[in-house]
Amino acid sequence: MADVENAAWSPASWRQRPIRQAPDYPDPVALEAAEERLRQSPPLVFAGEARRLQTELARVAGGEAFLLQGGDCAESFDEFHANLIRDTFRTILQMAVVMGFGAGLPVIKLGRIAGQFAKPRSSPSETIDGTTLPIYRGDIINGPRFDAASRIPDPARMQQAYYQSAVTLNLLRAFAQGGFADLRRVNDWNRAFVAGSPLGPRYAAISARIDESLAFMKAVGLAHAPQLAETEFYTCHEALLLPYEEALTRTDSLTGISYDCAAHMLWIGERTRQPDGAHVEFLRGIGNPIGLKCGPEMAPDDLLRLIDILNPANIPGRLTLITRVGAGRIETALPPLLRAVQREGRAVLWCCDPMHANTITANNGRKTRHFDTILAELRGFFAVHRAIGTYAGGIHIEMTGKDVTECIGGAAGLEADGLDARYHTQCDPRLNGAQALELAFLVADELKAARQGV
Ligand code: PEP
Ligand code: CO
Repeated sequence: MADVENAAWSPASWRQRPIRQAPDYPDPVALEAAEERLRQSPPLVFAGEARRLQTELARVAGGEAFLLQGGDCAESFDEFHANLIRDTFRTILQMAVVMGFGAGLPVIKLGRIAGQFAKPRSSPSETIDGTTLPIYRGDIINGPRFDAASRIPDPARMQQAYYQSAVTLNLLRAFAQGGFADLRRVNDWNRAFVAGSPLGPRYAAISARIDESLAFMKAVGLAHAPQLAETEFYTCHEALLLPYEEALTRTDSLTGISYDCAAHMLWIGERTRQPDGAHVEFLRGIGNPIGLKCGPEMAPDDLLRLIDILNPANIPGRLTLITRVGAGRIETALPPLLRAVQREGRAVLWCCDPMHANTITANNGRKTRHFDTILAELRGFFAVHRAIGTYAGGIHIEMTGKDVTECIGGAAGLEADGLDARYHTQCDPRLNGAQALELAFLVADELKAARQGV
């Protein structure tokens, strides 16, 4: 294990390492055929785009921008419509405008979308009414329905995930560049949200100031600046299903470096971050910017070891540390990690996932999260960074643009007994469109306070 970082890397070298969370494909011939088809398929993103994102993330790491990472917990083959993609995209844009205004900084938009299909699970099987079946691992692996046939891992699903990702990306690129993302439209949507929200008056001041800024830009002749009419939007997902990620890895002709062309950014989940494990091995060798989830049990030395392996050249923007320690532990679990990284002078981007350590089961059996707990972890994140003198660079959330009922709380006052109404997630509970925007307005205040050093 001492040699993890010195061993030769190839897109397939992860196969020599112990692996967790890997599906048991019953038909190896079908698996190999599916991988071969993907190897022959065009890349979904280009190396140059991934490099551009890394440059943007380096600006974030340096305190000159902020990162907004968000989208579904898991994308779904069944729930695949233009409107869903549009609504998620629109909500992320709206949040970015509000938070960017609060921070006085550009916001880098990075969707958990166009590839976020594979899910790590705490148990390999589930039992309902005395029947035990393999657990659902995301649509790229098996089906969510509780019957034996659906739960068999099927490699053909990788192909379907690839095509769905391609179509989704195509639409996202059109939205980003084709006029849909015009800042004035985004501001109109935000104005409508503020007017209709029970907590609207609380958000009205920020909204009015954004209006004034836009009016000023118009007054000084910037009404037609291209920066107002289009935006950059990047994609990311958890690099969990390594046969898929490997099959979409291409050598960049400009640099000779391997890029995972399934998304711009890939991250390692909390359950698969063993330093000598397959997932760390795969991600250490790709040229894309990468993320690492950091849970409450991570010790500072474990983190430094992983940073050595994943970013040995200490390149800013290369590594985003996504902390997810829980609202109740943020003040004890986070400072030792921040201090260790600060002391060792490692260039990282700190991002807060306030979702994954705050999941509870409601009385009716639904997995859920409280809006207030999510907000509490975020506030704790900003406070701890402020106290230590490190930069709180971004947030990572599970959200949708739709009006689902999966997380409790928010201005509309959703309660546990209302969860059944529109509980649509494939896996973890997401903030709905209104809750996500409320969060953005509340985070904007934190960002403004951080900027003013109060
Ligand atoms: C996720 O981001 O959906 C996830 C499973 O997170 P984590 O690895 O932090 O548990
Ligand atoms: Co999740």
